[in-house]
Amino acid sequence: MRRLLIKNAKALVGTFPTGTARVAGAAMAQLPVIENGWLMAEDGRITALGSMSDFPGIADWSDLTVIDATGRYVLPGWCDPHTHTVFAAPREEEFVDKINGLTYQEIAARGGGILNSAMKLRAMSQDDLFAQARERLLVMMHQGTVAVEIKSGYGLTLESELKMLRVAKRLKAELPLQVKTTLLAAHALPPEFKEDRAGYLDLICNMMIPQVAAEGLADFVDVFCETNYFTVAEMERVLETGAKHGLPGKVHVNQFTSIGAIQAAVKHGALSVDHLEVMTEADITTLAAASLAPGPAPAPFPTLLPSCSFFLRIPYAPARQLIDSGLPVALASDHNPGSTPSGNLNLVLSLACIQLRMLPQEAITALTMNAAAAMQLEAELGGLTIGKRASLLITREVPSLAYLPYAFGTDHLDTVLIDGKPVRSGEVLR
Ligand code: NIG
Ligand code: FE
Repeated sequence: MRRLLIKNAKALVGTFPTGTARVAGAAMAQLPVIENGWLMAEDGRITALGSMSDFPGIADWSDLTVIDATGRYVLPGWCDPHTHTVFAAPREEEFVDKINGLTYQEIAARGGGILNSAMKLRAMSQDDLFAQARERLLVMMHQGTVAVEIKSGYGLTLESELKMLRVAKRLKAELPLQVKTTLLAAHALPPEFKEDRAGYLDLICNMMIPQVAAEGLADFVDVFCETNYFTVAEMERVLETGAKHGLPGKVHVNQFTSIGAIQAAVKHGALSVDHLEVMTEADITTLAAASLAPGPAPAPFPTLLPSCSFFLRIPYAPARQLIDSGLPVALASDHNPGSTPSGNLNLVLSLACIQLRMLPQEAITALTMNAAAAMQLEAELGGLTIGKRASLLITREVPSLAYLPYAFGTDHLDTVLIDGKPVRSGEVLR
């Protein structure tokens, strides 16, 4: 048996009770911690934890790795429930266009944007896509990410969407972090269907979703529901078809305009509504009402992507209002070549506090428990809880928890463990 003991931690952070599925509203600030703690893991799972004052001692010291975490916090690894991390090439030329004053929409209208990425992805081999995405995920793991959702959406043909999802499946098999996958064929209308929107929707609903579901290539479906991309009615059709094939929705809504997508996503029982930079009072009320309504289907997680707002210079999502309305906010990176060329969740933590005015405790809850649940990994990850995976972060010696988001742009992590095994070894393992 492979056993690990972490002792003398300044605090164990995020010791959510067993069975926690989402943390909403005011409870997000009540992040559970155990000061001066210890944690035991066996074969990659957390088996026991507590305060050093109640440390029972160790009877059998064989096969035991001991980490002394004096002065350091132990946290659940970051979970990233929204990325597009399989892509063929970065898009720095658009970055420069943006500095020169063009908007995201103007760049897309000139043939840049998602279609630019699609043309490059179609031409690239599965092996090359895999090798690139693998490098990105290795960096993200080093930065503390232990689970990631990966979307398709740069293929926009049956063949290339399948290619992207097969790359994601291989990443899942070959890397230690947890991977969930999402079919985002409705990301942009491909040029071949410029005059035939209905034809592309038919292709998605009659061919892609059934095949992807049959091959077990995706866990979720997504739609970029936005002015000039896909309409609410088109999103509803994809969500209905996904539901028939057992694929819940995680949808891009309200990034630039509010067009009734939230109401439709709630109606169709989506797992998460992502972006939310542009929200009306009615949108917030709809989400809040859904989360209070009794019933088997919980309301979607509002998943916020502050590094996308930062990069595109678009409004930040109204996180305060969402939390103050009782909602379980989750955070993600949105890592992609067009709107967020960073998968660093430590930056997301800082932006959530600095720009979304989330408290450090709320932002940590949003990047762990709620982020895990926003990709249906709440039983496996998101907390320091007996039975969950020992996918953990051990910080450097820092003065307080608030110091993590406060001292932004600084690397505060010492060691990252996934299933009890180091993917980054710092001082505590030397
Ligand atoms: O989440 N908004 C749509 N999709 C991505 C950006 C995709 C791209 O520009 O390549 C996003 O921001
Ligand atoms: Fe996205």
